[in-house]
Order: sequence, then structure tokens, then C-alpha cells
Amino acid sequence: MTFTKPRGTQDWFGEDILKFNEIADVLVTVAKLYDFEQIVTPTFENLELFTKSVGETSDIVTKELYNFQDKGGRNIALRPEGTAGTVRAYVENKMYANKTGPSKLFYLINLFRYERPQGGRMREFHQFGIEYLNTTSVYDDIECISMAQNILNYFGLADEIVLKINNLGSFKQRLAWIEELKKYFSNYKNQLSEDSLNRLEKNPLRILDDKVDGEKDFVKNAPKLAQYLTDEDNEYFSKILRGLNALNISYEIDDSLVRGLDYYTGVVFEFVSTNKNLVGKSTLIGGGRYANLIKETGGPDYQGLGFAIGIERLILALDASEYEWNFDNAPDAFIGAENEELTMVALGVATLLRNMGMKVSTEYGEYKKDRNAKLAIRKNANFFIYIDAKNIDNNKISVENLETKTKDLVPVEELYEYIQKQTLDMLDKDLENEFEGN
Ligand code: HAM
Repeated sequence: MTFTKPRGTQDWFGEDILKFNEIADVLVTVAKLYDFEQIVTPTFENLELFTKSVGETSDIVTKELYNFQDKGGRNIALRPEGTAGTVRAYVENKMYANKTGPSKLFYLINLFRYERPQGGRMREFHQFGIEYLNTTSVYDDIECISMAQNILNYFGLADEIVLKINNLGSFKQRLAWIEELKKYFSNYKNQLSEDSLNRLEKNPLRILDDKVDGEKDFVKNAPKLAQYLTDEDNEYFSKILRGLNALNISYEIDDSLVRGLDYYTGVVFEFVSTNKNLVGKSTLIGGGRYANLIKETGGPDYQGLGFAIGIERLILALDASEYEWNFDNAPDAFIGAENEELTMVALGVATLLRNMGMKVSTEYGEYKKDRNAKLAIRKNANFFIYIDAKNIDNNKISVENLETKTKDLVPVEELYEYIQKQTLDMLDKDLENEFEGN
């Protein structure tokens, strides 16, 4: 009997996991530079947490949620996003107690959405996200967006990305707009899909970003939220835009951007790739402010703000760009031995070098020198070390520098220093060449 992975999931190994880890290292470093602390919440939560926050009528809840009853009859859901769980943990653990400013939390987690799988649209995927909890300052909005931009800059994606931004205003203004939308769409009932008809009463906003109906002219011409925004809402948004201008961050105001999650109020934004190879999976980052979520999750009347970046999508975007991955999987040295008895010596030497911080590869059971040398080359090792009876009797080991093609017999106790010196010499050479523009 054979088994295959569930549709829309991925086994992470080889270069893929190296790419994942390279990205993760950068993102975690950036998060710390911005003074965020890591949080890890459970992979599953009570279903209601997501229906209440992400929204009962959102696609994520109605179509994409992985939910089930556990053996105790509880309604459980695998998390489809990271904000709700982070807010729940913040409230439940009273992280706000004895704290004045915002709590700044980041996460790097797996998520689950029952979507139609394709590259960059997975049923299990990963996000790096950040949340400012208890934020009152518009400068947090500016910092949050510029942090996302900085991440994309770091990876060299700045020229392939558009920042789309919109102002959803306060909740009250949005309700007035929603009432108007209900009236407006009621005139077009015969042109709405069944999905949209179902959303008409509960949440007509979702019709605006519906993949099919969203493209229809009467939907594009629907009343705009801008008409309902107060002076205060507009001033807040202008301040964000002024901040982005000051930081040289370009943006496009997109008044159809409502985002697929119900908790947003105020600013919402997406960073979308313009790379033609990424059509359909081009949104790399999504985020915004949420004024009511913390309170509705049982916490104080604080506002939150954040964004999340999809790791699988970022990998696709980087592969489609000029980005050069930095990971180097090659070992420093490959060690072989002439026979089984000397394999113990090889094992000891390998351990010694590893304890000194060198990456050492071996393939025990292969004794022929030629075969071992080939393995060392195939693995891209810098040095090929071979232990044979003739030399080890004189306490020496044969070492070949596979880059410079020099060979030496090195006393066992000098092996580490020898390899270290040769490595430094090679680095010096590389630097010299770079300097001379070779
Ligand atoms: P989101 O827009 O639903 O926002 O997801 C953020 C990012 O996750 C997307 O831009 C995309 O890169 C990635 N993503 C989403 N679905 C998939 C999928 N099926 N396969 C692969 N990647 C995917 C949120 O989740 C909000 N919680 C972001 C946020 C944080 N807002 C405030 N704080």
C-alpha cells in the first residue's frame, strides 16, 4: 500500500527547506530589529474564534475552513490565519497588564485553507506575520507598512511590487456604506451569482471582492466608501500617505480593496507582485488595522494592526526574480577510509572536526579511494580527506584541497589548523579577485 500527501500540501526537503529557512532567518531577524517578540499559538482553536473575527460570510470561513468536531464534541477549526489566534492569546494571557505601549508580536506558523490548490495557493501554507496590539498612533501604521516594504526591498523585490492601499474608515461609517450597498445591489439581483445573493443581506462587501462578480461593471460602479468617510477618517489616512511619501514608499490608492477578512477598519493594504509568472498568486503581503477585534475577543477596547507575508508565495516570487539564494549546502570536508578498521579513525577525525565547527560528510562502507574522491566532488566538499594504513602508521592523513587541487600529507594533530588556514587563504584569494574585478 502506498500513501501520498493530501492535496495542496508539501513535503519540505532539499532546496525547498533551505529556501524556507533562509527566508525565515531574514524575517525573524527583521522582526527583532523592529522590536517584535515571537508568539506561537495552537494550530487549532475553537471554531467560533474564526467565525466571529474573520467573519461568518467570508470565503475563508464559509468555504475554506478545515473544521471538525473533536471526540469531546467541541467544534474545532485548524487556523486559517494568524491574527485571531494571536489576539485571543493576547487577551487570554492579559499580556496588556502592567504595560503602557503596544505589545508587538510576530509569528511564523502554518495555516490551513481549503482552496483549489496550485503553486502558491496551498491548503497548508506558512505565514510570517506581525501584530501591534494596543496601538493608538498613526506612526505605527506607517512603520508597519514600511517594515513590509523593507522586507521586500531586502529580497530585491522592490521593483516588482505594487503597494495597494485603501481606507475602510471607522466601523460606523462602514455600516452606513454597507446599508447603501445592500440597497444598490438589490437592484441587480438577477445579475448576481448565487454566492453573492447569499451575501447580499449579511455582508455585501464580499460581493466587491468576489472573483467573478467583482469584475462586473455594476459592481465596479457601486457606491464608494469614500463618500461616507468622516474628516477624521480622511485626515488619519492622509497622515499615513504623507508618512509613506516621506519614506519614499510608492503606493496606489485602490478603493476596491476591502480584503477578505471582516475585522479590518481604517487602513488596509496589499503588496502585489507585478511579475507575469505570478498571476493568481501575486499578493505576497496583506494587512491592515482592526479597531474592534481585541474588544470583541473579550479584551480591552484597544486597536490592533499588522500584516502577514505568505512564505510559499515569497519563494515563488524570489525564484521568478533575480534573487540569488545564499544557502550553501556543501560540506567543508568529506572523509573516507581505506578499510573497515580505519573507518573508526575516520569517524573519530570527523567528530573532532565537527566539534571544531566544521561540516563534515562521510559515507561509511565505501573504501575505494577513487569512489570516495568522486563522492567528495559530487557533494561539492572543499576538502577530501582519506585515511589509509600507509600514512596513518606515520600519524599522517592525506588531504586534498578540491578547489586549488593541492594535496598534502598532514599530521593528525595539525589537521584542523591546516584546513582552517587553507580555507582562509582561499577566502583571501576570493576577496582579492573581487577587488580586482575578476
Ligand atoms: P491574508 O491576505 O489572508 O491576510 O494572507 C496573507 C498572505 O498569506 C497572502 O498575501 C498570501 O501571501 C498568503 N496566503 C494566503 N492564502 C494562501 C494560500 N492558500 N496558499 C499560500 N499562501 C497564502 C491574513 O491572513 C491576515 N491575518 C494578515 C494580517 C495580519 N492582517 C493583520 N494582521
